[in-house]
Amino acid sequence: MSKTKTQFFCQQCGYEASKWMGKCPSCGSWNSFVEEIIAKAETKLEWRQESGKTRTIQPRTLDEISVGKEIRTVAPDNELNRVLGGGIVPGSLILIGGEPGIGKSTLMLQIGLALRNMKVLYVSGEESEQQIKMRATRIGTQQPNKDFFILTETNTHQIFRATESLSPQLVIVDSIQTLFSPSIESTPGSVGQVRQSAGELMKFAKETNTPVFLVGHITKEGSIAGPKVLEHMVDTVLQFEGDLHLAYRILRTTKNRFGSTAEIGIYEMLGTGLKEVSNPSEILISQKEGPQAGATIGATIEGNRPLLIEVQSLVSPASYGTPQRTPTGYDQKRLNMLLAVLEKRCGFRMGTEDVFLNMAGGIRVEDPAIDLAVCVSIISSMEEISVSDKICFAAEIGLGGELRAVNRIDQRISEAEKLGFTEIYISKFALKSLGVRSKIKIKPFARLPEVFEDLFG
Ligand code: TYD
Ligand code: MG
Repeated sequence: MSKTKTQFFCQQCGYEASKWMGKCPSCGSWNSFVEEIIAKAETKLEWRQESGKTRTIQPRTLDEISVGKEIRTVAPDNELNRVLGGGIVPGSLILIGGEPGIGKSTLMLQIGLALRNMKVLYVSGEESEQQIKMRATRIGTQQPNKDFFILTETNTHQIFRATESLSPQLVIVDSIQTLFSPSIESTPGSVGQVRQSAGELMKFAKETNTPVFLVGHITKEGSIAGPKVLEHMVDTVLQFEGDLHLAYRILRTTKNRFGSTAEIGIYEMLGTGLKEVSNPSEILISQKEGPQAGATIGATIEGNRPLLIEVQSLVSPASYGTPQRTPTGYDQKRLNMLLAVLEKRCGFRMGTEDVFLNMAGGIRVEDPAIDLAVCVSIISSMEEISVSDKICFAAEIGLGGELRAVNRIDQRISEAEKLGFTEIYISKFALKSLGVRSKIKIKPFARLPEVFEDLFG
């Protein structure tokens, strides 16, 4: 009989080692290694015996494999369909991660209740049946799904027993960290358990062709709690994020085997659950009376959707020592770089100024096309000169202070036009890729100082 096999796992990042270590070489956390049983005695032997039998599974060439037409289940939620790449793929394992309280359970419950003619099993290890019922009443779905079943259970073997008798067409597990598989002996929430339970659910999804949603909590550092391993196992990783104090929530794809990862979905958290936001630009431009120094609008693209986002800056003389540079929703390093460009290429003395930068609506912007709006916003605040709220910006800034062309300029321009902007500042080099003729006035420039000259004189 072989010995029971154990390994040491870092509880923060899932790093695996054969010996205990004080510090994790992968994520650097201290005292995070815990010994876990990874295989019960004899499992190896069982597997040997099994493989000794004549199994008929043979490797096949690509030509031998036929693909039927892919049938996705179109969910009753356009934002979710969009991030999944057009609906739920049968047999897929989808992880939805986010901080506690962001609305993961609400979203899953809402989708389960709104689905039609589909047997849904909602497995909850966190809330009681009564709590779920209360939440469902609060959401108040019109004609809720009659085939929506709730199971409060954390033992994976019991869950599979239930799926066998119910044969659901969709399974939601809330959350993966509460599950435990009796097949291994570590505690629920440990790396070993999370991996084992997710592995069993993956097997279930692939064998029965049932899509499975896994809810996962995220640690402060932003990784899906504990094991990164989970992200490798699943087909799709969705990240649910947003400022807990604001109503807007963003559903972002960070991995998708069945679609693009550039998509985002936007929701608003109301007293009656999550509402899809179909026209995000309107909410991301704050309601204020007239133009205001330090506020500019950037024409960005998130996924396939153009989004006009308001950038706000506050620049004020630093009272002591090192000036503060505090961006919210924007990369700190990128802000430092833009400040250096403003100093070196445009002659503004940024070294003694505190700079606070904010993307309205609590959204995180990664599109470099926002750069120009950021620079103009900073100078507008510093010089106390407002920029008309009918003007928007779309250009990346290079280290030499040059305006660089950004992709899909036509889409940005038409969105700006649709929302009633009268002028858009772009890179001169984007002119050649300009297709459509529009009523909006296009102002092409090659360098940042020219933009300031034109705006502030
Ligand atoms: P929840 O779905 O429990 O978050 P998670 O599962 O990600 O931990 O969402 C909890 C928050 O959402 C909670 O603070 C209450 C709020 N909420 C509403 O504002 N409106 C609603 O209709 C519901 C159901 C929850
Ligand atoms: Mg929850």
